[in-house]
Amino acid sequence: MIVRPGKGLTFDDVLLAPRRSSVRSRSDVDVSSFLTSKLRLAVPILSANMDTVTEWRMAVSMARAGGIGVLHRFMTVEQQVRQVAKVKRAQGLMVENPYTVAADAAIAEARELMDQHDVGGLIVVDDNMRLVGLITRRDILLAPDNIQTVMQAMTPADHIVSVGPSVTSAEARALLYEHRLEKLPVVDRDGAVVGLITSRDVVRVERRSPASVDERGRLLVGAAIGVGAREVKRAEALLEAGADVLVLDIAHGHADHCIEMVQTLRRNFPEAQIVAGNVATAEGARDLAEAGADAIKVGIGPGSICTTRIVTGFGVPQLTAIMDATRGLREAGLPTPVIADGGIKSSGDLVKALAAGASTVMIGSMFAGCDEAPGAPVIRDGQKVKVVRGMASLGAAIGRRSAERDGDESAEEQEDWDKVVPEGVEAVVPYRGEVAEILHQLVGGLRSGLSYGGAHCIEELQRTAEFIEITSAGVRESRSHDVHRI
Ligand code: XMP
Repeated sequence: MIVRPGKGLTFDDVLLAPRRSSVRSRSDVDVSSFLTSKLRLAVPILSANMDTVTEWRMAVSMARAGGIGVLHRFMTVEQQVRQVAKVKRAQGLMVENPYTVAADAAIAEARELMDQHDVGGLIVVDDNMRLVGLITRRDILLAPDNIQTVMQAMTPADHIVSVGPSVTSAEARALLYEHRLEKLPVVDRDGAVVGLITSRDVVRVERRSPASVDERGRLLVGAAIGVGAREVKRAEALLEAGADVLVLDIAHGHADHCIEMVQTLRRNFPEAQIVAGNVATAEGARDLAEAGADAIKVGIGPGSICTTRIVTGFGVPQLTAIMDATRGLREAGLPTPVIADGGIKSSGDLVKALAAGASTVMIGSMFAGCDEAPGAPVIRDGQKVKVVRGMASLGAAIGRRSAERDGDESAEEQEDWDKVVPEGVEAVVPYRGEVAEILHQLVGGLRSGLSYGGAHCIEELQRTAEFIEITSAGVRESRSHDVHRI
């Protein structure tokens, strides 16, 4: 047995000392940060893979705001794949189901369709949706009086540049410019029209800052997986559906089976971005990074709905856990980013987590009251609230059991729920409206925090931050006091 020297600290135990600052405006600072070694987010925040926090709606809003949502894994593979597909379809370079017209339609009909849908052109298709041509307002406007049908006025297919569905915005931009085009029909391998890319779409995707998007302009999304052979198949299906990040998430991530799973994923999917966790020590972070993880999720028991520390006696106060994990990685010469997961109650905690070395943070309960979180609000004692539950709570275990019964009978993780020892609770949180508003407040606080720290970006804050341990009197002084709040 050993007793570690020093104290374990968490967010409320410390403050950051203000530093001389050359930041003149909050807009002078850059809050972007690496989620993994390859993916950088404009907003360094993830919504937690909890079944009361992140399904596709939350993931869409998170990515639109510049962060990312991680879909929870307590559903069948098919359900989770459908959720990924919904996020990937929510926005993109390509307009799906573009307006079409038949070649033998009258010119007047094409004009009417363009007016009705307020578009400048229509794709001309045959009965099997195969590309026949393209007709634009200009074609109609300039067509002589004897031209009656779309076929006579359109540009025929053999004069059109079309692209496949996997075209990137840079490729589309180059083609549109090279051929001086307005529109690119998107056709699949069989020649059927599946979409349309316009020059306006290309510009919109490139300018839609700060949304988190892939090279095809689609929103980024993460998806959680567990450990085991069945979960390797889940990972494969999720990647095929377009998931940008796999989050291997188990309660005690510093375990042989988690390390082996990271190695298996790395071997099977060398290009995939893999997050692994949760751990709370330097050794835990290092072992997962050495196994091939692209980011490490840190946090054992800091979450608002967690009771792991009470039930098991294990855990590390979150600020120390972040510092230890980042130090462990640094000392091993590993550039793997850390995600601080759990316990964030305010934008001040977000600033402290990043200053302590985390590159991004994951948030659960603070987002559970939002419109986009699964479940409807209810009225409790005259207040609108939503439910949040720990993924190791009894309610979640029962829910999981029935989802598994509906889905895959070979579930490796099935437990007898009457034997479950919960490590989380179920609770209610105030209804909080749209998640974009909370993110706006968090990012505003982070920008101010950087300015107090004299830092222009998160990396600079990490280099120069100076924490001061405070007493309970300091904690009391930090909150509003000696006034009656209204
Ligand atoms: P916050 O504080 O943002 O924390 O609500 C979210 C994180 O809490 C973790 N989590 C749990 N931890 N028992 C635990 O010990 C649980 O039942 C549980 N459910 C979620 C998880 O890491 C999440 O991201």
